[in-house]
Order: sequence, then C-alpha cells, then structure tokens
Amino acid sequence: MTAKTVPVDVFDLVIFGGTGDLALRKLLPGLLRRYADGQIPEASRIFGVARDKLGDADYRARVGEALGRAIGDDAALQAKLPAFLEKLGYFALDATKDEGWEDFAAALGNGDRIHVFYLSTSPSLFVDICDRLRAHGLNGGNARVVIEKPIGKDAASAKVINDAVGSAFAEGQIFRIDHYLGKETVQNLLALRFANILFEPLWNASRIDHVQITVAETVGLEKRAGYYDTSGALRDMVQNHLLQLLCMVAMEPPAALQADAVRDEKLKVLRSLKPVRGDEVTQLTVRGQYRAGASSGAAVPGYLDELGKPDSRTETFVALKAEVDNWRWAGVPFYLRTGKRLSERVSEIVIAFKQIPHSIFDDSAGPVMGNKLVLRLQPDEGVKLWIMIKDPGPGGLRLQHVPLDMSFAEEFGVHQPEAYERLLMDVVRGNQTLFMRRDEVEAAWAWIDPILAAWEAGRDTPKAYTAGSWGPSAAVALIERDGRTWHEDAA
Ligand code: BG6
Repeated sequence: MTAKTVPVDVFDLVIFGGTGDLALRKLLPGLLRRYADGQIPEASRIFGVARDKLGDADYRARVGEALGRAIGDDAALQAKLPAFLEKLGYFALDATKDEGWEDFAAALGNGDRIHVFYLSTSPSLFVDICDRLRAHGLNGGNARVVIEKPIGKDAASAKVINDAVGSAFAEGQIFRIDHYLGKETVQNLLALRFANILFEPLWNASRIDHVQITVAETVGLEKRAGYYDTSGALRDMVQNHLLQLLCMVAMEPPAALQADAVRDEKLKVLRSLKPVRGDEVTQLTVRGQYRAGASSGAAVPGYLDELGKPDSRTETFVALKAEVDNWRWAGVPFYLRTGKRLSERVSEIVIAFKQIPHSIFDDSAGPVMGNKLVLRLQPDEGVKLWIMIKDPGPGGLRLQHVPLDMSFAEEFGVHQPEAYERLLMDVVRGNQTLFMRRDEVEAAWAWIDPILAAWEAGRDTPKAYTAGSWGPSAAVALIERDGRTWHEDAA
C-alpha cells in the first residue's frame, strides 16, 4: 500500500543555511521523498543559500552526495535523484551584506508562485535575513517564512526574534516549526481523541491518574556542541517538543481542525500550567548530565569530555512534574522527561488511568492494574491500550495485563512520511495548524523562565548519570515519591 499524496502548488523553496546539517540530513532528503511520491510539481525550484562561494553544480554535487548516503539502496529514490538535483540552485549570500541580493531577488521574481524562505541558520541572522527579504520585496502575500526552534533563550529574547520576523512578515506568513508536531503519532492523537467517542468521556481528572511524556535519545552531542552547551535539555526539548506534546494531550476539543482553533486551545493549556516557584524547583525538577558509559554497545565519553569544557553545568537530562491548573486536569500530574545518551531511543506518551473503585476478584486472580494508553512516537510508531483480561485456559480465573497493540507499520505497511516532509508540504499549502503561534512560544517561555532562573541561581550542579542508563536516580525518585513509576513496555 502506498500513501496517498495530493500535489501541492508550484513553489520556490529557499533554504538559508543550505549547506548545513539540517538541510542535508532532514530537509533535502524529505523533499526528495515528496518529489519521488509525486507531490512536488516539476516546475518547483529549490535554492540553497549560504556564505560559501559555490556554483549550482558544486551545490548539486554536495547535496547529491548527502542524499546518496541518506537514501541508501532505495531504488525508487535513486531513480528520481538526478531529476531532483536538476531543481536545485545555489546563491552565495551573506545576510549582513548587500552583495548578491539583487540577483537573488531577480532570480526568484515576484510572480504568482509561492516562495518559502526556510531560515535554517543561527537565530542571530533572522533579523538581517528578514530585513533584506523585505527590502527586496520578497515578503509579499505569496511568501512564507519558516523559523526553527529554539526561538530565543527565554521569553525576552523570543520576543525580540518574533518582533524582528514580524516586522517583515505577517503572523499568517510565519511558520514556527516544531517537528514533533509533524510526527505521525502526534496527529493520531488528534484522531484518537476527537474521532472516537471512547476516550473523551474518560479524558479528565476523574478517570486519569497521571500522564507521562518521555523523549529519550541515545545520541550525545553529535556535532552541535557549541549550540547545545548554551541551550541544554530544558530549552532544547522541553520548552518546545515536550510542552507541545503536553498541549496536544491536555487541550480542550477545538471547534474545528483549523489552525487558530487548535492553537487557541494549546495556548490555554500553556497559560494554565501551574508556575513552578523558585522554592519548588528542587522538588519538582531534576536535571542531569551524563558521564562516560556505553551507548548502543560502544564506550562513550561523558558530556564534559565530549565538550572539552570541564566546568559546564549544562543539563543533558531533565525530568519534571507539571500540573495543568484547570477544571479538567486539576490534581493530575504530568511527568516529563528527556535526555541524551539514555538507554534507548524512545518517545512516548503514556496516559495512565485510575484504578477500578472496587475489585470483585480474590487474591488468587492477581493484582488488577490500571489501564494505560501508550502512544509511541518513535521508533515503531503505534498505539497500545493496556487492559486487564483473563489469563486464557483452564485453572481458575487469573488476570493478566496485556496490550491491545496497533503498530502502524504492521497495520498499514506504508512508509510514514517523516515529520519534516509533512510539515514542509503544509508550509507550501499555507496550513499553520501544526506550527506554533507567537503567543504559544512566549507562553511556553513564561513557564520555563522561572525554572531556568532558579537553576542558575542555585549552587547545585546537574546530577550525574551514566551514559546508557535511564538518567539520574533522582528522576526515579521524582515519580516514586508520588507512589508511581515510569512506564516500561513490559509493565
Ligand atoms: C531537536 C533537538 O529539536 O530534536 C535535538 O534540537 C534532538 O537535540 C532532536 O536530538 C530529536 O528529534 P527526533 O525527531 O530525532 O526525536
């Protein structure tokens, strides 16, 4: 079975930072897949922009090499690669200098086609790039600008970036990407919650005991030490990806699946997050930093050695307990955790339901465990609903906790488009539903800022954990203090 694709309108996509890691590892491979699937019209063009003095042919060769690695022996993609590379062009531009911008603007023209400007650069260049796009008349109604997280380092710097981009583009033209929202399971959460009658009546504090959101990675710093050490896991992952997932779980049903209807509801959740006051930070949050250990069977150095900076206090792990202070969720903790160099790569959302009020079974039946709905974002995307059943066969009534298991790959046998593929096509279509609005970003920072401030003011350092483990023991204590445990798939 192949996925159904609807071609988008003809577009020009310009990637600022066109020779960078994101462009070569995610954006261009994603575009190639969309092209091979017939979603990108032939007349569309893709331009890389960077400071390096390259010609079109050099750029195509560089991208061709990266794409060759990314697609491996996929014959269908290999067959489409030469025609895809033909669509690529390159401009050597410096965002801080005028040189070359006239030619760039002339090549794009100001006709009717859609122009997408993807700013895959350091946020410090956003202002200059947007100013020049405006100065050359490239911010018209058909233009859209995509900006990557992190949007700022705190609420104040996010405002500066939002103001700068907003001075050249209207909010309806700005796509703040959070690629977690493009993941298949995240959209399935919308379908599960709002296309079924089953779950919504249970989706509240009277039936849900708590929620867990885990985004665990096995990778370390990769090639991003400079960025990561100034960011840390709270800014890099929690402020955006994990809070966005929390919003999708906790939001009220929007009136329609329309960008502002959905984003209004997410914003209400962010604004309902109970502030973590300075004196509560040590109780409600745990930050960790990995030490040497093993990852995927190989010995790996600790964070400080990998970084070459022995005194860094940057956290590579965060666990925290959040609460959504509103009628639906009063008293339901949301436990969030994320980290690098953990034991496994797994991202999942666990909705843990309350216990039954009274058991009719005697002790020999075994314990009655709470139902759980587990949404697996990666790897092996799918949904499991853990229920109690009778242990099959004779020999009395014994109970078992088993998952009703729906793995998307097995069930549908389709290549699931990667998050960036889907989101890039949404940008071309002008659909902002899965993109963050300015007020959401600022509300998320408003909740994060006091935690950061308390960490910075405090004297303690992140708790050490061994690479390849599940993080510091304090993260286990955080949830166990409340009489709960982190979900494990066999539980
Ligand atoms: C990015 C973070 O936003 O998400 C990275 O900056 C992280 O640090 C990545 O590794 C994780 O994305 P995914 O899709 O691989 O889970």
